[in-house]
Amino acid sequence: MHRLDLNRLPRHVSIIMDGNGRWANLRLANRVFGHNEGANSVREVVKCCLELGIPYLTLYAFSKENWQRPESEVTALWHLLRRFLKSEFADLVSRRIRVRHLGDPDDIPMEVLNELRHVVEATADFDRLVLSLAINYGGRQEILRAARKYAGDVLAGRAESDALSQEEFSRYLFTTDLPDPDLIIRTGGEYRVSNFLLWQLAYAELYITATLWPDFREPQFHEALAEFQRRERRFGKTSDQLRTVSFT
Ligand code: FPP
Repeated sequence: MHRLDLNRLPRHVSIIMDGNGRWANLRLANRVFGHNEGANSVREVVKCCLELGIPYLTLYAFSKENWQRPESEVTALWHLLRRFLKSEFADLVSRRIRVRHLGDPDDIPMEVLNELRHVVEATADFDRLVLSLAINYGGRQEILRAARKYAGDVLAGRAESDALSQEEFSRYLFTTDLPDPDLIIRTGGEYRVSNFLLWQLAYAELYITATLWPDFREPQFHEALAEFQRRERRFGKTSDQLRTVSFT
């Protein structure tokens, strides 16, 4: 904690929570055991964001591609997500955390979707922390859906066909009104983005750690933030330009 400059924290942190299965395998346990322990890492990272005043946290909880896993694991993941939403509800409300859903509601099991909608609606007015859960989410699917919606608006005369800016297109994405992520953390050591926030991560800093998600707790989160603070974010400019700007 002491190594962090509280004035230079990322505003929006997004996390690809990978490594639950390997964590369980190392303990000769079922993969679901790893997902359950992963939920404790979620609780801890949320707590850290509240303590540090990081206002946006986005978690990749279930991808479009995760449907291809064995049915028993998919069922267990839905069960875990529903249980999490139910068990955390009171805490989310008392800590004034707003929950948002990023992803396609179609195909999400009805009992999970109902719970998700309930939490999203009940927390809609909170703004201490915006916790976005990417569930049944895919980045390419999100961009396609946005393009279709925009085309629909053009056809209906609600949008101009030749006046689409980046800002305007962003409004068609699930992440409407969310700032782009400043920092994307991937646990589990793989060097890929796995169809996560493809449009939004254009200028995000990537932090990849071999730590498996269930082992990713406060010290590991703080280390990721410290590494973020060692980076120079140039947004296409040169280091000299940035130094000039900071002296003026
Ligand atoms: C990837 O690990 C993780 C997932 C597909 C699920 C993420 C879900 C959780 C962490 C559960 C809790 C989440 C919330 C929001 C309560 P993996 O199974 O691919 O691990 P592996 O690469 O070691 O096989």
